[in-house]
Amino acid sequence: MYILGGSASEKVANDLSHILKSSLVRIESKHFPDDELYVRILDDISNEHTVIVQSTYPDSNIVELFLLQDAAKEAGAKEITVVIPYFGYARQDTKFKDGEAISAKAIAHLISLNADKVVTVDPHKEHILNFFNIPAFSCSAVPEIAKYLKKKNIDLVLAPDKGALNGAKTASKIMNCDFDYLEKTRIDGRTIQIKTKNLEVRNKNVAIIDDIISTGGTMAKSITELRKFGAKKVYVACTHGLFAGEAVKKLTSAGCDEIISTDTIDSSFSKVKIAPCILQVLKSKII
Ligand code: R5P
Repeated sequence: MYILGGSASEKVANDLSHILKSSLVRIESKHFPDDELYVRILDDISNEHTVIVQSTYPDSNIVELFLLQDAAKEAGAKEITVVIPYFGYARQDTKFKDGEAISAKAIAHLISLNADKVVTVDPHKEHILNFFNIPAFSCSAVPEIAKYLKKKNIDLVLAPDKGALNGAKTASKIMNCDFDYLEKTRIDGRTIQIKTKNLEVRNKNVAIIDDIISTGGTMAKSITELRKFGAKKVYVACTHGLFAGEAVKKLTSAGCDEIISTDTIDSSFSKVKIAPCILQVLKSKII
């Protein structure tokens, strides 16, 4: 088996090749003067199972993934598994208004054209796996995030909304602490309201775990509420740290003690490695 890392996920690909003792495929990639991308596989992968690792964020990395898939197919790969640490566009998973694209479906269909199997991590909603026309599997980063948080003496782990309560429950078992959820109400596309629904947080170390931090709005409001009710330390953790715009500033100004993310999108907050989670799915479903 060969591992081929796209530019969005080189570290994760390196980690996987290291753990699996599989060779990393060498690729040449460059941009033409008009900025179009060129990729070329330099090793012989004919008749080999090739695992392409590439997050589909931002947009340019989607194009790179399509080119890598095509290059692997053209190079005669026997089987292609696409590992997508962060599957972008997953939040547009339905038509919220008439006339909209179902973006998650559109991207999933295109990825399915040149792949045999897909693995992704904490997709925004599990049903997006059905948009792929090939077997698609997911894994969760929550156990690895919980292992990291266990060192922080957390008293209470919170889901940012009721729908994410299972994640908090899983984390609480690893962290040996209580779990609960915050009440999140969406007022409109850009505004949300967070309530602590009488949670007792005074003098407690609290961690909130979400799948995505994008603008930081959800977490910043949550931190403000927890601080208002006397929380001692507040940690925010997510699988996918997009940290759009002023997100980090918003979180620190709200009084966050530490920001934690995995490396599905690499940043200075990527303190948790995702490769061990991906490895489990590869071993149980693919290899
Ligand atoms: C929403 O349902 C997600 O789980 C996250 O809570 C959301 O994407 C976070 O976005 P933001 O950081 O912009 O509030």
